[in-house]
Amino acid sequence: MAKTSKSPIPRPLIVGNWKMNGLRAPAVSEIKKLLKLLAKAAGRAPEVAICPPATLVATLAGVLKTAAGGRRLGLGGQDCHASASGAHTGDLSAEMLKDAGAAFVIVGHSERRTDHGESSNMVREKAAAAHRAGIAAIICLGESLAEREAGRTLDVLRRQLEESVPAGAKAANTAIAYEPIWAIGTGRTPTEAQIVEVHTDLRRQLTQHFADGGKFRLLYGGSVKPENAAAILGLDPVNGALVGGASLKAADFWRIISARM
Ligand code: PGA
Repeated sequence: MAKTSKSPIPRPLIVGNWKMNGLRAPAVSEIKKLLKLLAKAAGRAPEVAICPPATLVATLAGVLKTAAGGRRLGLGGQDCHASASGAHTGDLSAEMLKDAGAAFVIVGHSERRTDHGESSNMVREKAAAAHRAGIAAIICLGESLAEREAGRTLDVLRRQLEESVPAGAKAANTAIAYEPIWAIGTGRTPTEAQIVEVHTDLRRQLTQHFADGGKFRLLYGGSVKPENAAAILGLDPVNGALVGGASLKAADFWRIISARM
């Protein structure tokens, strides 16, 4: 399997999704540790971002603004509402995330699709909202174990891609994360061949539908760990990773980032 000559895609992107984890003091301490580690990379690191719980975006943006090398780390939200403002109790808009210091937002994570009944159409509206606000959308797709076992993976993903990515998406404001649901938080990962098959197919779909579809970053997510990061991030069609559990500690996340340097 080709692992060395990378396609002409922009800098790889490695994103930490903290999910519903993190209180202020320990979060600030991990971010400071991560900045120290990123300083060691001196221009060799991929683009790196953390998506903390929304309560921490403004706090961490403040830390990054004043810390040495703070610009080496991006911040994102984990979800947004499709509207800019209004009567939506408990929701947050992409404009609010941007105002708090986010440059990205994850949309369509399977935990939101499952826990909150989000359809691909809703995900597409959320991604369009991110673009309207001027932040990048990281749009998640993934098949269930039953869908994989029924041989439906590529069909399911094609449909999710078609319905979840807004027409105006560009490589500069959109990344796609392939996250097999059965690999998230389970310690199980697809084989390298399975990841390559999916990423190659998603790339084909993107180039058919978008003028710069050859340049969208295609991330893999689901049980990425320091131990498997080099193998997964070294696959030619993989342009980065969306990392959950292993992004919570700066030391672990750094081992994943450095696997792509
Ligand atoms: P995991 O989560 O790395 O803990 O499997 C990935 C994700 O859900 O984005």
